[in-house]
Amino acid sequence: MAPISSDPERTIAHRQKLEALGQLTGGIAHDFNNLLTGILGYASLLKTSLPEESEQFEAADYIERAAKRAAHLTRQLLAYSRKENASLLRPIDVHLTIGEAVEILSRAENKDIRILTRLGARRSVVNADPTGLIQLLINLGVNAGDAMPGDGLITIETANRETAAGDEIEGTRIPAGEWLSIRLTDTGTGIPPEIRPMIFEPFFTTKGEGKGTGLGLSTAYTCAKAHSGFIFLENGHEGGASFLVLLPLSGKDSSQADAPSPAAARSMPKGTGTILVIDDEEIPRRLACDMLRALGYQALNAPSGAVGIELLQDSPEKIDLVLLDKIMPGMDGTETRRRIREIDAALPVVLCSGYIDDVASNPGVLKQFDAFLPKPYKLEELARAIGGVLDMHGRTAPNGLD
Ligand SMILES: Nc1ncnc2c1ncn2[C@@H]1O[C@H](COP(=O)(O)OP(=O)(O)OP(=O)(O)O)[C@@H](O)[C@H]1O
Ligand SMILES: [Mg+2]
Repeated sequence: MAPISSDPERTIAHRQKLEALGQLTGGIAHDFNNLLTGILGYASLLKTSLPEESEQFEAADYIERAAKRAAHLTRQLLAYSRKENASLLRPIDVHLTIGEAVEILSRAENKDIRILTRLGARRSVVNADPTGLIQLLINLGVNAGDAMPGDGLITIETANRETAAGDEIEGTRIPAGEWLSIRLTDTGTGIPPEIRPMIFEPFFTTKGEGKGTGLGLSTAYTCAKAHSGFIFLENGHEGGASFLVLLPLSGKDSSQADAPSPAAARSMPKGTGTILVIDDEEIPRRLACDMLRALGYQALNAPSGAVGIELLQDSPEKIDLVLLDKIMPGMDGTETRRRIREIDAALPVVLCSGYIDDVASNPGVLKQFDAFLPKPYKLEELARAIGGVLDMHGRTAPNGLD
């Protein structure tokens, strides 16, 4: 840790270091994510074929956990390095964003943690970049989960708040205006007074070697600032921690807000049907096919959009769903989807990408697909995404749950 400053904006050296690191990470992230997709995916596939008590199962489990940690680190670095771009801000109903974040959090937390939402704000539309906002909520939620070993409760509340000139919240002067306040409270260990001034610093972590990057809250802080908002750790909260986020309300109401990305489908571990996997990179393509077969599907694969289209036209087998990579040389995901729709307008297409950012910052893209599966993914995540979409389309009968 560099010298601690209570004002996160003063840690310029840190920020420059992070910026350079961010550029570097951004450059290799795509390749790195594909490697992680292979590692994580094959580890989880391997686990399904090994007896749970065996040493090999434990080794596969360790690989899976290490790969997840690596994926976490990449995500944090990418989130931190991403530039909040004013052009990405658009009217968003934050209540829907909270719904998505809760969905992601409840899937990520395998502990016995309940999430309660009390969305009391009458007005909830903010000019926001949904990717940044979801990341902010997830970072707070994951911290809360980490502070509650075993079980616990996360409460997310919203309210509207009006400030007049000179008003202060937690010792900070807030400009006059109308705000959406989001309070996230947990029943965890709480935050000791001596570390409270440092928690928003980049790289500050108490989580020990290899566990936390210390970038979660500094990313949240940067994001709140980029939205002309504020984030506070509330004082005087007993038993656990409480964070308050203030975002300026946009003049719009919910009906004028942009739709959120389609929430990933839940449930549905196993199924039948034929899935066409289109991905230019070999490891993720082979992995997807192996995983799909393990789930009971037939899998066909194509190394490019053009080959995928040919298969779709010529294959004697009926294809029930296409799993499509977003970034490919030549015909990319969006163009391939357009051609698929020309052939079969009702064929479900699931978009798969390591660039969550790229996708979430462009909601027009997401709307064209039936679901989005971020790379790297585990077997269960693939099962849920594919199963959910097929189910929704009534394309194939579920094969029972096991
Ligand atoms: N809800 C909370 N309860 C208790 N302590 C917290 C909570 N949120 C944050 N902290 C403390 O603040 C520190 C910094 O949090 P931050 O999210 O920035 O990094 P991290 O969680 O350690 O690492 P990462 O976010 O990369 O996993 C944590 O290490 C922890 O000590
Ligand atoms: Mg954190």
